[in-house]
Amino acid sequence: MKKGFLITFEGSEGSGKSTQIELLRQYLVKKRKKVMYVREPGGVLISEKIRAILLDAANKKMGSECETLLYMAARAQLVREVILPALHKGYIILCDRYMDSTVAYQGYGNGINIDDIYQIGEFATAGISPDLTFVFDIDAKKGLARIKRQKDRIEQRKLDYHNRVRAGYLAIAKREPLRVKLLDANRTKEDLQEEIQKIVINKI
Ligand code: TMP
Repeated sequence: MKKGFLITFEGSEGSGKSTQIELLRQYLVKKRKKVMYVREPGGVLISEKIRAILLDAANKKMGSECETLLYMAARAQLVREVILPALHKGYIILCDRYMDSTVAYQGYGNGINIDDIYQIGEFATAGISPDLTFVFDIDAKKGLARIKRQKDRIEQRKLDYHNRVRAGYLAIAKREPLRVKLLDANRTKEDLQEEIQKIVINKI
């Protein structure tokens, strides 16, 4: 039986979501909540190894189908090793990216059939879907300009691709307004965090 609460954080590159997740984690710890942070793809050893393959800019030959299945494989392992057991123990899990990333990046971005993604996703996640999702919305060009380090295989894609990913997120938010909260990532760090905390405290 699931007792915990799964919150996922989504958005295009350079949206500042990692900073917001860490601020929320600190806030929930102060409130003495049982809280856990994980990221996707990754979070456990096997999934981190898959992440390295996925993001390696040298893997230029990787096809969209292989890419989709590798993201799902990383997810399947993270769900079994960490997310499911933690939910059973009553943890609030803060997960940096999840299924919506595959829908936005591989579906809207790469043209993989969205119904196929949901079907494979059901298998990969054992049917665990987020209780709450934040989508950080930012202009794709602006977000990419914020990345100062060497860009990975996905980040290196053309602006058109990243615009499709953003449009995908906006479509997801429109389709599922109860689960998905769309946030304008152009606001100050403090402003954004205040809104996130308000929404979370009302739901957990
Ligand atoms: P990160 O930069 O947020 O750590 O995420 C790694 C990259 O992987 C990022 O460019 C988004 C991409 N991604 C997908 O394309 N599909 C997915 O399902 C996930 C989880 C991430």
